[in-house]
This record gives sequence, structure tokens and C-alpha cells, in this order.
Amino acid sequence: MLRTHTCGELRLSHVGQQVTLCGWVQRVRDKGGLIWIDLRDRYGITQLLIEETSAAPELVQAARGLGREFVVQAAGEVIERVSKNNKIPTGDIEIRLRELTVLNSAKVPPFLIEDETDGGDDLRMKYRYLDLRRNVVRQNLELRHRMAKATRDYMDSMGFLEVETPVLIKSTPEGARDFVVPSRLNPGEFYALPQSPQTFKQILMVAGFDRYFQIVKCFRDEDLRADRQPEFTQIDCEMSFVTQEDILNTFEGLVKYLFKTIKGIEFGNFRRMSYADAMRLYGSDKPDLRFGMQFTELNDVAKGKGFQVFDGAELVVGICAEGCAEFTRKQLDELTEFVKRPQIGAKGLVYVQYKTDGTFKSSVDKFFTQDDLMQWAVKMNAKPGDLMLVLSGEINATRKQLNELRLEMGNRLGLRNKDVYEPLWVLDFPLVEWGEEEQRWFAMHHPFTSPKPEDITLLDSNPGEVRANAYDMVINGVEVGGGSIRIFDRELQAKMFRLLGFTDEQARAQFGFLMEAFEYGAPPHGGIAFGFDRLCSLFGGAESIRDFIAFPKNNSGRDMMIDSPSPIADEQLRELNIKVV
Ligand code: AMO
Repeated sequence: MLRTHTCGELRLSHVGQQVTLCGWVQRVRDKGGLIWIDLRDRYGITQLLIEETSAAPELVQAARGLGREFVVQAAGEVIERVSKNNKIPTGDIEIRLRELTVLNSAKVPPFLIEDETDGGDDLRMKYRYLDLRRNVVRQNLELRHRMAKATRDYMDSMGFLEVETPVLIKSTPEGARDFVVPSRLNPGEFYALPQSPQTFKQILMVAGFDRYFQIVKCFRDEDLRADRQPEFTQIDCEMSFVTQEDILNTFEGLVKYLFKTIKGIEFGNFRRMSYADAMRLYGSDKPDLRFGMQFTELNDVAKGKGFQVFDGAELVVGICAEGCAEFTRKQLDELTEFVKRPQIGAKGLVYVQYKTDGTFKSSVDKFFTQDDLMQWAVKMNAKPGDLMLVLSGEINATRKQLNELRLEMGNRLGLRNKDVYEPLWVLDFPLVEWGEEEQRWFAMHHPFTSPKPEDITLLDSNPGEVRANAYDMVINGVEVGGGSIRIFDRELQAKMFRLLGFTDEQARAQFGFLMEAFEYGAPPHGGIAFGFDRLCSLFGGAESIRDFIAFPKNNSGRDMMIDSPSPIADEQLRELNIKVV
């Protein structure tokens, strides 16, 4: 090996030893007489020292010729530092240099390779290999490695087999657009990349594998956000002969194990909430439970007092922000502007300040007496000093708007602490939702999800009311995983496809293999998939999953480093039977 130690491992106990290190030059400080070099590798930083008076002139000259990010081999003796640096583990020692070999020179990097960098997103993505040299980014990937290892340990201990499923498949039913790959050998035909291994894991259950998991790449052609990438990784799991309760326990166990081994945090039982309650109390199927501000519906006390906006509304609903009665006019205007932004879409915001002297001051004083407002306060459990914020309109839209306002208040009041974790199961999702544009039902999870047995009778008469045996795991407002108990009866599956607007022929063409497999003894089964990138970013205390992926895509789905996607040659297109226009 070119080195005896790494740049992260030398301590006082090594003093007196002759060592050789290799790494990148982080910084050179030349104080005339004394030259210090910070040498960096994956494991840390070690300080090298040259004393001009006693060092060989070639050594001094070599040191003065170094630039940032040069790759060097450095040999010398470990000595105790005069002024120690307690910020780094190697801060007690330095190396008195005897020999310095430049293994490679480097151009001046386009941004600072330090914890605080001056590089913008796109620049850092173009030079991802330089960004990956930064501690913060590398540590995220080290965390990812530990998460994957702990996941495999837990799954193995529970008897799950990791099985690889193919990447060149055909359309999967997760509801996003597919990425497709033309087949040269089958002119005019295409593979699709899996949005998830859903059908394969169900087939593995029919095959008797009983417990399957896979840490697997999935591909979805959808609009990108901080928590979405076109290719991302799932911890994909499936089990046979289980009830929903068994799945919840097994995978709550996985997440508890990860928290314990990676972060040293122990949890009791996770909270559970029905989808209906989540929507009613938080206006979201992924409520952030790190703070309160549950919704209070005010229809019975706010309507019928002559305020047209409320009287004509399907829902009047509010939140109470503790201790915020003294918000200034400017702050209240900002909140009003916030809810009126086109992305949120509220027409306006009603506020009521419950003053510490027991009086109310509101934006609707013209329509509501102090007694009226007291009724609101009682309903909302508001105390003097609190601020009530109220929205109204169509039920679903208003709930969504108030959810945004609640999260914004949580941010403003510093209630969304990244070091606090509040896991939650959201249960009993609706089986289907109505697509207004397409005028048809869509599976809320996917078409293989089983309705609750007690709701099956509603399938024909009132599909929108049917609840599914489907569940999401939500942590701090992030959907980290979701799954369901599956349909394993061919007839019920066929009925589900019909409800979703598939003709029998279309269903057979797309999912015939699964329906056929169900005729050869399918066991009752169910499963879940976790968004692995999301779990990693949550554990790392970050909002964006991008920094937990070694080579992510930017917001337009581009890989800036390899410059992809890119055009391909006409010749290649012809070979693939794709017409050149
Ligand atoms: P679902 O579509 O809910 O379920 O996906 C499971 C989890 O994957 C994560 N996820 C994503 N992460 C990053 N970028 C994306 N574009 C992205 N899309 C989804 C989320 C989500 O909770 N086959 C079913 C699972 C099952 O039924 O067992 C499925 O894929 O964290």
C-alpha cells in the first residue's frame, strides 16, 4: 500500500512513529519559516508540518509548489502539536514531514471543498466528484450505507430473503408515468422500467417465498420535488399468511431497529390515525405531529351571522396558535398573503386575536360580537394570548389550505425541530378516488390493494366509501413508506380492474400473468415499501433526498455531470426502429 495510516486515525499514542499518509491537499499555510499542510482523505484531516530551518530545501520547494486538491504521499514522524485543535479527532498531533511526493496535480476546483461551500447547486452537481469530497456529503452517504446494512441485518433476522427482480419489465401500476426502453430485437416494442417491483413480489408470494425484501431502484417519470427523484430506492417487502396487524408490527419493528442502531433513539408503540381523522384534524394524509394546532371545525358557531363568505362555505375551520395574539399587523398580512399565494389558493384569512385582557380583536368584528367570538374560542380551546386563524370554502380545498398554513405556522414558531421524531401510521385509506378530469375511479394505492372485507358490499353501490387495508408510515410529515394487504382472489381482482375502467381484455393484456398466477394457489399476502432515500434524509436531518444519493438528478431530471439525457445518433435510432423525424 502507498500509505501506512489514513488521515483520520493518528492520535497521541502514535507519537514517535514514522508514518506515510496519502490524500488531497485541503489547504497550505505558509508562515515563512513554518509551512502547514492540511491533508484530507475519506477518514479525516491530518496536519503536516515543515520547519524551514531544519527541512531539506527540496521539501520546502515541493510544499510551496502545492495547490488545492493536489494528491500527495507524505512521510514523516508523528509529533505532539504545540497548539492543539480540539475540533478534529487528529487535532493533538501533526506529522513532521520528511518526504513529500506529488502523485497528481489538480486544477483549481470551481468551488470550496469545505463544509461551508460557495458552489451553487448546478455547479456542485456538474462536479459531483468534488462535492462528494466534502465531509457533509460524504457523511450522508456513510449514513446511507449504515442504514442499508442495518436494514439487511433486521430483515435477515426476521427470515426475509433478498431477491432481485428485473429492471426491464412492462408497465407497473403505481400511477406515475413509465420510463420506457426500446427493444432492438422486438421492433416497435418497449420495455418499461419498474415504478416498483410490485407484481414481482406478489408473484414471489405465489411461488411460496413467504418473506421477501429488496433494496431496489425504482423509476418514475414524474415532476421532481425535494423529496422526489426520477430514480430512487425502496426497501421493498412482502409477506405471506399475515394480517395487516402483522405487517404493521413487523415494519414498525424495522423502523424502531433503525432508530435504535443508527441514532440511539428508542420508541414506544407508534401512534395510529385513520385517514379520515388525519384529513379532518390536519387536512393532510401525512400530518406532522411534532406540534399541535389540530383543526377545529366551526360551522355551527360561525355560520348564520350574516358573514357571506362563511355562510356560503361548505366548511369553516380554524387552528389556534398558542401565544400568538400579539402578532403584528405586518405578520398577519404576511400570513394572509401566504394563504392567497396561487399554490395555496385561499381567498383570504380570518384572524381573531384573543387579547390577554380577555377581549377579542378580529378581522370580522363587523359580523361577530365578542360573545360570538367567545364561542369560537371555547370550541378551539383558545386562551387569552392566543391567535385563531380561520379559513372557509369547499371541504377538501379548505383543509388543504389550512394544512399549509399550519405547517407555515409550525415553521415560523420553530416547532418543527429536525432532531425530534414523531412516527405515525395512517390507516384505512379509501380504496379509490374519483378523477374529475378523466371521469373515472383511480386506485388510491394501487389496483392490487384489498378492500376491507366489511366494505366489499359497497364496491358496486358506493365505491368512494370503500376503505382499503392500506397504510402509510409517516414521520414528521414525510410519507416514508406505504403498503397494503393484497387481493389474492382472482374474481375480486377482476372486479377491481373493471371498477378502474379496464376492459377484461386490457386487464389480461397488462396483468394477465398475475391473474393467472392467482389461479395456482395464491396465499393471502401483503407488504410495504419504504422510500429509502427519504428515510436516510430524515435520519440525516435534511429535507432534500438529493444529498443522500451519490449521483442525483437536478430539478429538470438531468444528470449534470454526465449530461444526460442526451440525443442519440440517427443510426442508433434506426437500429431501434424508432423513426427519425
Ligand atoms: P408507493 O408508491 O407508496 O408504494 O412508494 C413507496 C414509498 O416510496 C417512496 N417514493 C419515492 N421516493 C423518492 N422519490 C420518488 N419519486 C418516490 N416515489 C415514492 C415514498 C413512498 O412511501 N409498491 C408499493 C408498495 C406496496 O404496496 O408494498 C409502492 O411502491 O417514501
